[in-house]
Amino acid sequence: MFGANDKIQIAIIGAGGMGQGDTKLATSLPGVKCVAACDLYTGRLDHMKETYGKDLFTTRDYREVLERPDIDSVIVATPDHWHSRISIDAMNAGKHVYCEKPMVHAIEEGAAVIEAQSKSGKVFQVGSQYRSSLMYQKAHELYEAKTIGKLNMVEAWLDRNTAQGAWEYTIPPDANPMTVDWDRFLGNAPKRPFDSTRFFRWRNFQDYGTGVAGDLFVHLLTGLHTVTGSMGPTRIYATGGLRYWTHDRDVPDVMLATMDYPESDAHPAFNLILRVNFKSGVDESFGVRFVGSDGSMTASFTTLKVNRVPRPDEFDYTIGSFAQKTQQEMTQAWNAKHAPTTVATLKPQDDLVFTTENTAHLEHHRAFYTSIRDGKPSIEDASFGLRAAGPALLTNESYFKKKVCGWDPVAMKEKA
Ligand SMILES: NC(=O)c1ccc[n+]([C@@H]2O[C@H](COP(=O)([O-])OP(=O)(O)OC[C@H]3O[C@@H](n4cnc5c(N)ncnc54)[C@H](O)[C@@H]3O)[C@@H](O)[C@H]2O)c1
Repeated sequence: MFGANDKIQIAIIGAGGMGQGDTKLATSLPGVKCVAACDLYTGRLDHMKETYGKDLFTTRDYREVLERPDIDSVIVATPDHWHSRISIDAMNAGKHVYCEKPMVHAIEEGAAVIEAQSKSGKVFQVGSQYRSSLMYQKAHELYEAKTIGKLNMVEAWLDRNTAQGAWEYTIPPDANPMTVDWDRFLGNAPKRPFDSTRFFRWRNFQDYGTGVAGDLFVHLLTGLHTVTGSMGPTRIYATGGLRYWTHDRDVPDVMLATMDYPESDAHPAFNLILRVNFKSGVDESFGVRFVGSDGSMTASFTTLKVNRVPRPDEFDYTIGSFAQKTQQEMTQAWNAKHAPTTVATLKPQDDLVFTTENTAHLEHHRAFYTSIRDGKPSIEDASFGLRAAGPALLTNESYFKKKVCGWDPVAMKEKA
């Protein structure tokens, strides 16, 4: 157990764009220090030393990090095909793990991560930071208060209109088989000759990444499950295509998915529509809209808007042609049957807008180190991570195999 003033010493495994961003956020918190970095490209290890000092331990082999007794915790921010292997090895070596989303590259890897988490007793937190978003926490509060009445549908989208957004990441001029540990990068993926595009733009290839589903749908599902408390959908169908970024990738750049969420203790039955387009041309690039019987609420990065529709309280015009007594009886019966579902403090016409800074990522790291210090359970443990990753990955299965997929959200398994 850590005292309030004890330093938590961390290592980053996968010190690329996100890994260095995660390390910066983590070390901005009091009592967190980065002492080691593991990466497969020399330029990134050099940059880690430039940032954290020449004494920083660096290596290409993550097992050397796990052997070090001075390291309490690791951030795993490698490409997706390494997440589960490194996380399991790290927990078995006694390290706490912050693992970037998606938790797994394939659904079948999930059970072993859950097992390692429970056997090791270490804190394992998935890095889908919207779990810690103030916006979603507010949305959860309003959802629980039935501000939008009875939920019936959710639509969520995350469009990216730039080359960076479409994963066309920069390849450094010194990328070659000496500066890049290509064989180690491949891991269990099929062997092939050195290819700097595959190394630096790994998200575009199924062998290492999880496409739109694992990269972006996972964020949307995490937000949805946070707001509704849902364990997940049972039926999944996806379609899409490769429409704009047609070179050097084997994953679609337009993807649409529909999912059925059956009634559960947490929510009524509802349907979900997910969308990612890498060339949508619209400004509204990110949102999750919850639609209910009495209104809707839409969360973006920094704003939560609630639009409430008044409860219909009149019959059509024909009622006015009936006898007064009949009109009164019918109105009383209707009112008794349609009791307001909304919280009493809000009038039907009240629309609400909440705004906040986007602090989700920092707060997510704070939650992780708080769990380690205080021995509290992870706020996004391996089961939560698999319940977001599983349905997301089944959208790939549905898209590539052109089939409707079944998912058991309790057992966290694909079902026929
Ligand atoms: N939470 C978020 O909002 C968010 C945003 C971006 C990326 N991510 C996730 O972070 C992860 C990394 O993405 P990125 O954009 O930083 O990619 P990146 O390509 O910039 O960085 C990945 C790094 O991992 C290194 N690497 C590869 N295999 C390794 C191994 N076996 N051991 C050690 N290092 C290894 C590579 O050398 C590279 O520097 C992905 O899983 C991605 O989904 C999350």
